[in-house]
Amino acid sequence: MKKFLILNGPNLNLLGSREPGIYGSTGYEALCEMLRARAAEMGAAADCFQSNHEGALIDAIHGAAGKYDAIIMNPGAFTHYSYALLDALKAVDVPCIEVHISNVHRREEFRHTSVTAPACVGQICGLGTYGYVAAMAYFLEADHG
Ligand code: DQA
Repeated sequence: MKKFLILNGPNLNLLGSREPGIYGSTGYEALCEMLRARAAEMGAAADCFQSNHEGALIDAIHGAAGKYDAIIMNPGAFTHYSYALLDALKAVDVPCIEVHISNVHRREEFRHTSVTAPACVGQICGLGTYGYVAAMAYFLEADHG
């Protein structure tokens, strides 16, 4: 059974109350419950971890090696400047898809750059919380070239 580590970075613990016009009304815990349920439906398992601290996210990436088949990560604002997260992703042999709930390309200029995406298989943005589900589905496809 495939196991996913779903990582969420700074301020994503405030989902539901944080700028709901942009991020929706689903809270962080409800998101995790939904993702665990969707993973189970697809015959997989998902663990969720959120931190507002860069080092804790780096530790979680390191800890994923040998334990998870893939990482699905929304690095929050760290996306735009954390070379430490980029290096952590490059340091472990666990594939990652980067997810953003909002369409970062329709927002401020600084959100158009991801320094972490180059270490990822791909990036999903603008699909709301469905982006996390889409990332799991991608990893569960037997053959995606
Ligand atoms: C975000 C987009 C980032 O620019 C922002 O800093 C976030 C959330 C998203 O999910 O759309 O915290 O990653």
